[in-house]
Amino acid sequence: MHVRSVAAVVSALVGAAAALLLPTSAAHATSGGDRPIVVAHRGASAYAPENTLAAVDRAADMGFRWVENDVQRTKDGELVVVHDATLARTTNVEELYPGRSPWNVKDFTAREISRLDAGSWFGARYAGARVPTLEQYMERVSRNHQKLVLEIKNPALYPGIERQTLKVLANEGWLSPKHLRSRLVVQSFSADSIRTVHALRPGVKTGFLGTPDVADLPEYATFADQINAPHTRISPEYVAAIHGHDGPHGKPLEILTWTVNDAATARRVAGYGVNGIITNAPDVVREATDGS
Ligand code: G3P
Ligand code: CA
Repeated sequence: MHVRSVAAVVSALVGAAAALLLPTSAAHATSGGDRPIVVAHRGASAYAPENTLAAVDRAADMGFRWVENDVQRTKDGELVVVHDATLARTTNVEELYPGRSPWNVKDFTAREISRLDAGSWFGARYAGARVPTLEQYMERVSRNHQKLVLEIKNPALYPGIERQTLKVLANEGWLSPKHLRSRLVVQSFSADSIRTVHALRPGVKTGFLGTPDVADLPEYATFADQINAPHTRISPEYVAAIHGHDGPHGKPLEILTWTVNDAATARRVAGYGVNGIITNAPDVVREATDGS
């Protein structure tokens, strides 16, 4: 065989092997690919306590690159990864700090929060899991080679949280061109918060959580790259309307829909052409949408 033919065959085989080795969710960027990306919501939160390092590790172990998590701020100004405004549901805060009702995240110092057990409520095997700081969390997702949809949660409670979050992301290397291109989305239910992120760091890909009227999409497209709507509120027409506008980076707006935990719904929204599906059970969604 001619040398160049041999080289071509070897190159094709290497490429095919690499594609086989890639986890399904890693084979698609948020822009492109026939199947929607699968995003592990609060980590793989059907299988490990939400918003803990164990939950993102679980997602990684299952082969999922994309994770979603929530960031808020402690009384003394540390950013922490936790969903609710109060620590009561997902930690033993009531036991450790009785009399501090309603146990708001913003009323506890980082040191106090670091003592909490954020795993036992989910299952005994997770006893001792902690509420991670954003810094600890970013180090773990970096180590896992993961990609992140980071939600700024309850920004009205934490003035300046956008700038502070961007600073941590920058310190952790997450505002490098490579990360901005394919590994990071910052989202919020607050349009003001997303506008602020876009104004501070225009290179960051952003998502608005909600279902704006179709008539308002051109305005959202000036500061948001994604319109991330609940699956109960979308239709093929709404998805097409979103895709019909270019976002702030000159590419069609995208939609990641949430929170889809069953196969039938996953197939339905995949059929609408969504770019991604945010789910507590990424394995269920991956199996349902593979080849759909
Ligand atoms: O990413 C979508 C989803 O996280 C928004 O809702 O309440 O789970 O943060 P929530
Ligand atoms: Ca969230």
